[in-house]
Amino acid sequence: MQSARRRVSREGGGVDGELADLEQEKRAAAVAAADLVEDGMLVGLGTGTTVAYLLPELGRRHLDISCVATSPATEVLARREGIVVGPFEGVARLDIAIDGADQVDPSGWLIKGGGGAHTREKIVAAAADRFVVIVSSNKLVPRLAPPVPLELMAFGLDATLRSLPHVVLRQAPVTPDGGVLADYHGEVDDPGQLAARFSDTVGIVAHGLFPPAMVSRVLAGRAGHVDTLEF
Ligand code: 5RP
Repeated sequence: MQSARRRVSREGGGVDGELADLEQEKRAAAVAAADLVEDGMLVGLGTGTTVAYLLPELGRRHLDISCVATSPATEVLARREGIVVGPFEGVARLDIAIDGADQVDPSGWLIKGGGGAHTREKIVAAAADRFVVIVSSNKLVPRLAPPVPLELMAFGLDATLRSLPHVVLRQAPVTPDGGVLADYHGEVDDPGQLAARFSDTVGIVAHGLFPPAMVSRVLAGRAGHVDTLEF
C-alpha cells in the first residue's frame, strides 16, 4: 500500500466565530469544493453534515448545474437551496462528485457510510470524472479503524451474516434501495484485502471502503485554511 499523501496547496477558508472548530473546518472544506463547480456541470452531491455546508454555497452562486443526490435527505436540502436535482437514470457520467468521509488514511483510503448512504455514494463517485472529498481535520487518521459500514441484501440476511464474522446489524431503517445496514467491527489491517473480501462475499451490496484510485482530491479544513491532498 502506497503512503504518499502530498500536501499540494493551501487555500483560504471561511471562518465563522460562532461555529465550533470542527464545524468551521467542515464549512471551509465545503466552500473550497464549491469553487470547483462551474456552470454547465453535472454534479454528484454526497450525504452528511459536511455536504450540508456545500449545498447553500452552491445555491448562493446560482450556477447553471444539474445534480444527482446520493440520498433523499440531500435531495430535499439541495432543492431547498434552489439546486436542480434530477434522477440518476439516463445519466452515464458526472463531471464532479463531492462528498464527506468518516475516515481518510495517509494513502487515500476512505471509510464512508456513517450516514448509511455509501452504496449510492460509491456509485455516484465512480461515475464522476473527479471525486472530491471534503472533511474536517479530525477525519484524517494514521490508519483506518472499525467500524466499516456495510449494506446487505435483505434476502438471505441470516445466511450472509453467518459468513461474516464481527458484523453487527445497525439499528436503522432499510436504505432507499431496500438494503439492510450493518457495521463490520473486526480489524482493518489491510484495507485493500478487506475490501476484496467484502466484494467477494455474496449478500453484501456495498461496503464503506473507498480506494485511493477513486479519490481525486481531499479538501481538509484546518483552522483558517484548507489543505488539498492528492494521492
Ligand atoms: C454518509 C457518509 C458521509 O459522507 C460520512 O458519514 C461523513 O459524514 P459527515 O460529513 O456528517 O461527517 O458516508 O453515508
